[in-house]
Amino acid sequence: MSIFFCKLTTPHDTTCEALGVAARRNVLARRATVAQWNNRVKRIEGGRAVFDVTIPKPLGVTPREFPNRPGVGIAGIKKGGNTDLWNTEVLLNDAEGMFVLEGDEVVAVNGTFCEGGDLKTVSQLVKESEGDTVTLKLVRDYLRGPVKIIWKPSLKMATYKRNALLRACEETLGANVRYSCEDGWCSSCWHAEETYMTVFRICKMDVPKDWDNIVPFVLMSALEVKNTKGTPLLSRRIGL
Ligand code: FES
Repeated sequence: MSIFFCKLTTPHDTTCEALGVAARRNVLARRATVAQWNNRVKRIEGGRAVFDVTIPKPLGVTPREFPNRPGVGIAGIKKGGNTDLWNTEVLLNDAEGMFVLEGDEVVAVNGTFCEGGDLKTVSQLVKESEGDTVTLKLVRDYLRGPVKIIWKPSLKMATYKRNALLRACEETLGANVRYSCEDGWCSSCWHAEETYMTVFRICKMDVPKDWDNIVPFVLMSALEVKNTKGTPLLSRRIGL
């Protein structure tokens, strides 16, 4: 196991400055469109997308060799670490850039390619990198990789596999969804996915198996829809 990837410390104020946290804290959050998310990556063959992220040291991620093929991926992101802070800025505060997702493959470190390399090679590149930040080139399997889910209004977020039951995801995270029936008819748990405004019954439905995980999967409660969109969440309006 890499030492420096896992060297997890409480971020110092200077780290926050590097991320621009303070500067953006009071900026009214906007939501990136699908086109804007697409502009942050380059789609390549094999249902994959490549992009760069620059994150202060220590990264606060756990790298691991893929079990079934060569290469090193992001196996975990330490809560409160610098990568987690970066994700918060991108996902919640609308910072420019792409968020890091568990399963992303590390193919270059500060411009040195390491695609298909082993953990020792990738770790050494990070360890020997100069400066206060590290630029990783990451590749994401956007058709099969996991999905980043954000619940509104709680703003709790986590990464889940496709086809996972949304209710199980929600209960693991504690996003306070209310359930009032057994058969999926009462509408109390219904949420709208923010990008396409499609209704999801949390008690019955799964994480979509065909979700493009370049875009976060943001689920808004009915109250959140009313407060932010000014309209009630109605199945008729959204084609159910
Ligand atoms: S709890 Fe009734 S529709 Fe989901």
